[in-house]
Amino acid sequence: MSPNIHLLGIEGMSSKQILKILKRSDFFLNVRKKRKLETLKGKLVINLFFENSTRTKASFEIAAKSLSAEVLNISVANSSIKKGETLIDTASTLNAMKPDFLILRHPNSGTALMLSKHVESSIINAGDGRHEHPTQALLDAAVIRRKKGNFENLNVSICGDISNSRVARSNILLLKTLGANVSIIAPPTLIPKDIDKMGVNIFSNLDDGIKKADIVMILRLQSERMNGTETPSRREFHHLFGINEKKLKNASKDVLIMHPGPMNRGVEIDSLLADNNERSLINDQVEMGVSIRMACLEMLYEIRKNLNE
Ligand code: NCD
Repeated sequence: MSPNIHLLGIEGMSSKQILKILKRSDFFLNVRKKRKLETLKGKLVINLFFENSTRTKASFEIAAKSLSAEVLNISVANSSIKKGETLIDTASTLNAMKPDFLILRHPNSGTALMLSKHVESSIINAGDGRHEHPTQALLDAAVIRRKKGNFENLNVSICGDISNSRVARSNILLLKTLGANVSIIAPPTLIPKDIDKMGVNIFSNLDDGIKKADIVMILRLQSERMNGTETPSRREFHHLFGINEKKLKNASKDVLIMHPGPMNRGVEIDSLLADNNERSLINDQVEMGVSIRMACLEMLYEIRKNLNE
C-alpha cells in the first residue's frame, strides 16, 4: 500500500503515527514564535471552506504561513459554488492551479475522501459533516498529553451532541487508539446508533457519566445538522447536560475541561467555568491548533517528498 498523502480521518492511524504528530507539535509550539520556518517555501495551500469557521480556518492559515507557504482562502459566499458549480468542478479548477495542499471543510460526510480521488494535491479534512475532524482530535490530544502526560487509563467523558459531532467521532477513535477510557454523555436522542461498537461507555445521566473523569470535553448543540426534533429545548438541555463547576463534583478532583468552540455560553457550558483558567483548557486548544496543523502539513509534505525522490 502506498503511503497516504492525505489526512482524511483518525480512522486507520496507528498510535505510533499519532504520537509522532503530537511530539512534533510540541516542537512547533516552542519554535513558532521564535523563528519562521521555510519547510513549505514556494508551496501553495488552498483553504476551501464550505461551512463557517473562525479558529480552524485561521489556524490552518497561520500554520501554513509559519512554514512559509503561500495561502489562498476561498469561502463559499464569494465563489462560483454559489452559481451552481459542483464540488468536483470547483476542485478540478483549483487542481489546475497546482496547489500542494487543499484544506477542505464541507457539510457532507465523505467529501474529503471523494475529493482526494479527483485531485493531485494532499487533502486535509478540516471537518466533513458528522464524519471526522482529525486535526481537532490531534490538537485536543496534544493538549491532554501536555497536561496529563499519558493516555493509558485516563478517563475522558465527552458530553453533549454526540450524534452530530465529527469532533466526538475523531476524538473517540484517537483516544481509544491511545488507550484512554472514553465515556459519552448525551440525551438518548443525541447518541448515535452504533456508538457501542467504538468501545465507549454510554450515559444519559450527567452525574453517572462524569464520575472519576480526568477530562470533560463539552460539545455544542450542532443545530445546523438537526431537524428540530432531537432535543426538547436548549433550556432543558442546559438544565440536564450543561456543565458548571458544581456538576463536576463527581469527577476527579483535578478534572480539566475542554471545548472545541464555538461555545454557547449558558447552554452547554457555564461562562464562569469556561473562563476559569485552573480548569479550562480552551485557550490551550486554540493555541495548539496552529502547532498541530504545522505538524500535519510537514508530515504530508515529507511523505510526498519521499515518494517523488
Ligand atoms: C467544531 C466543528 O466545526 O466541527 N468546531 C471547530 O472546528 N473548532 C465543533 C463545532 O462546530 O461545534
